[in-house]
Amino acid sequence: MSTTPGRKQIHLAAHFPGVNSTTVWADPRSGSQIDFSSFEHLARTAERGLFDFFFLAEGLRLREHNGRIHDLDVVGRPESITVLNALAAVTDRLGLAGTVNATFNEPYELARRLASLDHLSAGRAAWNVVTSSDAFTGENFRRGGFLDRADRYTRAAEFLATARELWDSWTPEGRQRPFVHSGPQFGIEGEFTVPRSPQGHPVVIQAGDSAEGREFAASAADVVFTRHSTPEAGREFYADVKGRLARYGREPGDLKIMPGVTYVLGDTDAEAQEHAGEIRRQQVSPQNAILALEQIWGRDLSGYDPDGPLPDIDPDPDSTLVQGRVRVADPVGVARKWRALSEAKGLSIRQTVVESTSRQSFVGSPGTVAAALEEFVATDAADGFILVPHLTPGGLDDFVDRVVPLLQERGVFRTEYSGTTLRSHLGLPEPVWKG
Ligand SMILES: Cc1cc2nc3c(=O)[nH]c(=O)nc-3n(C[C@H](O)[C@H](O)[C@H](O)COP(=O)(O)O)c2cc1C
Repeated sequence: MSTTPGRKQIHLAAHFPGVNSTTVWADPRSGSQIDFSSFEHLARTAERGLFDFFFLAEGLRLREHNGRIHDLDVVGRPESITVLNALAAVTDRLGLAGTVNATFNEPYELARRLASLDHLSAGRAAWNVVTSSDAFTGENFRRGGFLDRADRYTRAAEFLATARELWDSWTPEGRQRPFVHSGPQFGIEGEFTVPRSPQGHPVVIQAGDSAEGREFAASAADVVFTRHSTPEAGREFYADVKGRLARYGREPGDLKIMPGVTYVLGDTDAEAQEHAGEIRRQQVSPQNAILALEQIWGRDLSGYDPDGPLPDIDPDPDSTLVQGRVRVADPVGVARKWRALSEAKGLSIRQTVVESTSRQSFVGSPGTVAAALEEFVATDAADGFILVPHLTPGGLDDFVDRVVPLLQERGVFRTEYSGTTLRSHLGLPEPVWKG
């Protein structure tokens, strides 16, 4: 790997987009969200760009909005680990990360599937451990939404510890030993069917943001996927989470922090800004503006004109209008902020949503964006980025063609993969075998 000594290296990952308002569906280049060829295109592009990993989110139930399937949800997307196994066959070095819930699965079954992916991909598997936040999703499962918030992390922590016991039940030399796990959440024993995989333990990613989530990440994760994507919020989050590591005998480099970010490129900064404005208007169509407003207000606002003023009624804090999606913690406070913005600038509903929900983290010429990415990482606001393109499947092409070479010139990004496993791309320590 050619790097410049002393310069902090950037880690990059590619998020397969879709289930959110970032995606521009109306663009003629917007392709299938469910065909294997779309997953393959993005993964191959990420590998061409020497990215650390490809990332898939998970939705276990189609979200509902006012009793109907949410307009921006994707119907028919295949299950994540199955897609990653297929991608293992068409890529060589790229890490393959899947989001899988710890609340509704069982450690034995999931540990087997992840160890199998690690074998089939020769050491490239990663698991984003999520806990899910709503009973609505839980209704799809036998026991329903049976855990409250604190218990979900208790279960997730024991789930992960149990999976690691299973992965450690085979010695690195290939000897298999029976396992016994006896704890408050799981009492299981037997023999694990999958030999120790190339990484020993697949890489573990964590994405919760509460105090419990951060503590869980500090104690047990290798990577944190965070929403803190501005330099100020990033630095605060970074210091907070890295500051929790020593308590667990861990070094700051043992946990990588990677915010989800978006970007818009242009030949010049001015062109990129103009393009960014167009994308924002496409993301927030008149219909999406009302959907976004209803998500905050928790009320049917279909009678409102997207080009007119904001509703003067307050949100319903206990609303169940939106199901399967985390509602903002303080809808009344957010509504007040949006109203104040709209009044101060004379903005319509649609313009207010465009201004308030803009998710464009890096906008500019390739040189401007490369410099901003380097600065973000050099000032400890992150260790790298999970890029969320606004187009599927070609949204990463321009980044790989135009920004990656500049990061390489700056000496902050690899010019070739130096190892074969995801753990080695991320510079993570080997897991200690606990026999
Ligand atoms: C950046 C980010 C991405 C997430 N992606 C998913 C996902 O794909 N599927 C899912 O079920 N939950 C996802 N979550 C939800 C969290 O993992 C977690 O279950 C939820 O935020 C509750 O945890 P908390 O209270 O610690 O925030 C995501 C959260 C964050 C911050």
